[in-house]
Amino acid sequence: MNHREQWADGLGRDLPKRVQVVEVGPRDGLQAESTFISTGTKIELVNRLVDAGVRRIEAASFVSPKWIPQMADGAAVMAGMDRKAGVTYAALTPNMKGLDAAIASKADEVVIFGSASEPFSLRNINCSVAESLERFAPVARRAKEEGLRLRASISCSFGCPYQGPVSVDAVVDMVRRFRDLGCDEIDIADTIGVGTVHHVRRVIQAAATEFPLERLAGHFHDTYGQALANIVGALQVGMSVFHSSVGGLGGCPYAKGATGNVATEDLLYLLDGLGIETGIDLDAIVSIGDWVSQQMGRDNGARAGKALIAKRVRD
Ligand code: HMG
Ligand code: MG
Repeated sequence: MNHREQWADGLGRDLPKRVQVVEVGPRDGLQAESTFISTGTKIELVNRLVDAGVRRIEAASFVSPKWIPQMADGAAVMAGMDRKAGVTYAALTPNMKGLDAAIASKADEVVIFGSASEPFSLRNINCSVAESLERFAPVARRAKEEGLRLRASISCSFGCPYQGPVSVDAVVDMVRRFRDLGCDEIDIADTIGVGTVHHVRRVIQAAATEFPLERLAGHFHDTYGQALANIVGALQVGMSVFHSSVGGLGGCPYAKGATGNVATEDLLYLLDGLGIETGIDLDAIVSIGDWVSQQMGRDNGARAGKALIAKRVRD
């Protein structure tokens, strides 16, 4: 009996055998950095992550460069990186202009992003939730006509920096609306990392009454140190797609004080320990996390990454 089976045995329910990890470091990880990171570094980051076994990656964000200058070179990143067969390269597309750029860049998957909280929507994408859904409708239609995979993210699914608590119903309402737009996958995002495990389980179970659980993804920022606990809770209720950021890079430009997503290193260490397959080489990711942290002159935000680097030095 491996750890996954022992764990499942103890709980009386099964954990997924395999998890899809969506690497968001090159997008969510970098977007809030104030110093511009060169296009060459962004391309190398994407290529190295894919070489390490990442099969789903957010490579670019086609948003307004006035709002998010760091992502202004998305087209150059998409054009410059090596494209590997079997890898889904995703890009954020808040409107038709973003979608046109994503199509021109040959993105495989596009991401529309809304919010379960009204004030966050106003600050993040400069329109109300209702207006955002009107704006997403033609984006979704055209993405489907182009044969692209369509994903939607629901920010502030557990709390909002401006409004405070967010109800489960508000999240479920967004799930329903994104489902009706034809989304292939929907991300339940904890933008400011305030969720705790029971709340997370409740939201996922409620969302799964409206949309297939296997196509719901967990996007957990680690601001309050809850991300891994929340992922374990999510695994327990059957979620099997998780977002993470190498080196724990990131934050949100519209959520002051928010830190990065759960580090890919920490997520892989957890999943490896549970005997859950990802197809990603933890050791290679540790080296990438170390490299990119040095490139950016920041501390490595991955706890497992730092520990494994220290162990390499000791051994
Ligand atoms: P707006 O100012 O309301 O839009 O922005 P607009 O249509 O009036 O356009 C204003 C200017 O932006 C125009 O240029 C447009 O051409 C240009 P001007 O005529 O003044 O020279 N523009 C664009 N340029 C390039 N690409 C585009 C684009 N759209 C307009 N796609 C808009 C509305 C949504 C565009 C803006 O608010 C925006 O770009 N916001 C960015 C928000 C963002 O990127 N946030 C971070 C990502 S979301 C996130 O991190 C959350 C997530 O990780 C999940 C979680 O953790 O919660 C996904
Ligand atoms: Mg995020």
